[in-house]
Amino acid sequence: MPEAAGAGHLSGHLFGDPEAEAPWDEAIAPGAVLLRRHACARAEALLAAAREVVAAAPMRHLVTPGGQTMSVAMTNCGEWGWVSDRRGYRYDPVDPASGRPWPPMPAVFLEVAREAAARAGYPDFAPQACLMNLYRPGARLTLHQDRDELDLAAPIVSVSLGLPAIFLFGGLLRSERPRRYPLQHGDVAVWGGPSRLAFHGVAPLAEGHHPATGAVRLNLTFRKTR
Ligand code: SIN
Ligand code: FE2
Repeated sequence: MPEAAGAGHLSGHLFGDPEAEAPWDEAIAPGAVLLRRHACARAEALLAAAREVVAAAPMRHLVTPGGQTMSVAMTNCGEWGWVSDRRGYRYDPVDPASGRPWPPMPAVFLEVAREAAARAGYPDFAPQACLMNLYRPGARLTLHQDRDELDLAAPIVSVSLGLPAIFLFGGLLRSERPRRYPLQHGDVAVWGGPSRLAFHGVAPLAEGHHPATGAVRLNLTFRKTR
C-alpha cells in the first residue's frame, strides 16, 4: 500500500471515517493554496459549533446595496460580522437582526483557521470575523473581491463543509477569466499576499446529499478585519 493511502487509512480510523483521505496541498496562484481535506478530521466539531452559532444568530438572506437579495444565507461569529444592506457593505460588531453582539468565535473555528493559515505560509493569523455562508442548491456568489477589511496583509481562510461546490478563482482584474476548482467537504482555501485581492466566487450549487450536512453546503470565511 502506498504511503499516502496508509496515512489516509490511519486518519480515517482515528476519526471514525474509513473513507477519510490524508490531506494534501494544491497551490493555485502566488499566495493562494487549496488545503485539500485539511478540515475533515474536525468537520463534526466545526458543524456542532456552527449549529450553536446559528441558534444564537440565525442565517438570513442579506440585501445588496443595489437592492438584490443574496441567494446565499449568511450569519457571523467573532468580534465583527460582515453585513450588507441598502447602505452598503461593512463590518458591524452588532447583529442588526437582534441588536446584540455576534456570538463569539468557537475555539475549534479559531484553531482550524489558524492552523490552515500557518500551513499556507501565514503564521499568527488572528481572525476577528467569521462569515458563515449557507448554500442551498442554486445559491451562488458572483465574482467579487474581499476588500472591506482594513488589513490586507492578513489572508482569507475559507473552509468548505458538506456538499461540493465549484470555486471560481480569477486574477486581480474582473475581466480575467476565473479558473474553476471543485471544493469538497473539508477543503480549506487560503489566499493572501499577491492574491489577497483576487476576484473569486462560487458557481450555483448543484443538488445533492452529503452525510454531514444533508442538502446544503456551509462555508466558513475567516478574516482579520482591521
Ligand atoms: C466567499 O467568497 O466569501 C465564500 C467563498 C466560498 O463559499 O467558498
Ligand atoms: Fe469572498
